[in-house]
Amino acid sequence: MTTIDPTPAAAISALATWYMEWGVETATTDTPADWYAAAAAARERLLRDRPRAAGDAPASRGGPAPVRGAALRDGRAPAPAVPRADPAAVDPLSPEGAAALARSHAGAAQSLAELEQAIRAFEGCALKATASNTVFADGNPEADLMLVGEAPGAEEDRRGLPFVGQSGRLLDRMLKAIGRDRSSVYITNVLPWRPPGNRTPTPVEIAACLPFALRHIALVRPKLVVAVGGVSAKALLDRPEGITRLRGRSATLDLPGLAGPLPVFATFHPAYLLRQPAQKRLAWGDWLRIAEILEKQSSPVP
Ligand code: URA
Repeated sequence: MTTIDPTPAAAISALATWYMEWGVETATTDTPADWYAAAAAARERLLRDRPRAAGDAPASRGGPAPVRGAALRDGRAPAPAVPRADPAAVDPLSPEGAAALARSHAGAAQSLAELEQAIRAFEGCALKATASNTVFADGNPEADLMLVGEAPGAEEDRRGLPFVGQSGRLLDRMLKAIGRDRSSVYITNVLPWRPPGNRTPTPVEIAACLPFALRHIALVRPKLVVAVGGVSAKALLDRPEGITRLRGRSATLDLPGLAGPLPVFATFHPAYLLRQPAQKRLAWGDWLRIAEILEKQSSPVP
């Protein structure tokens, strides 16, 4: 029979253990928050702000700004708008509806600023309700190398920047080894919001956020995308295999608005390498290969 220790310290410790076992390991506010009410309000906004018919602009600040056609790189035309799905055809509270809404809003974004605005206004992913920040990107949007990770962790959620925690520090060291830093790479994640307790994002959450990540890539138009970790590799490449099969192989991504297929290279997530240091040898080979691909792309054709 379980005996209950009545001393306050033991009770607090038991409560903390219980929270930890349920994955509650971060205090997000000083005062208790009613997340059910926050989620209900988000659903209300989602219903209110969704486009009413194919091609309609969202009714309020819930959607992206109208297309302005700002150029992203010197001398380069903006990526054309992606044909918009009909979000009115599906229930916006269903997983398919959230993904359709995301495709519609992401496809309308013509610049990174518009995309960021659309993501911040998006209510179709429940992770937003428990995250402290929307983590959009870091680094140089003009860079030829774009890294796409999984989702923000605790530190990223606090600071609103991708890969600034422990795995970010290892990523920075790996980048340095190939002569890069955040001024010469651009970094984002498949999901802009932290899954509570750093759990793996669900397929529904990934489907709701992926259209934004794909549009992000199309707007940046790097020469090479590195999918960092299994979640990113599977989502970007739309493959069922794990990272041990996908890593180290060249693949391509066809995105609306781009002239041709974009090379994608998958490698291990630094968080995995921190847990499995023996795999760093393979990762080192991956980063050398990444440097080689970029070098080949930038050398003039004889
Ligand atoms: N892991 C990720 O995949 N992305 C981050 O930004 C941080 C940790």
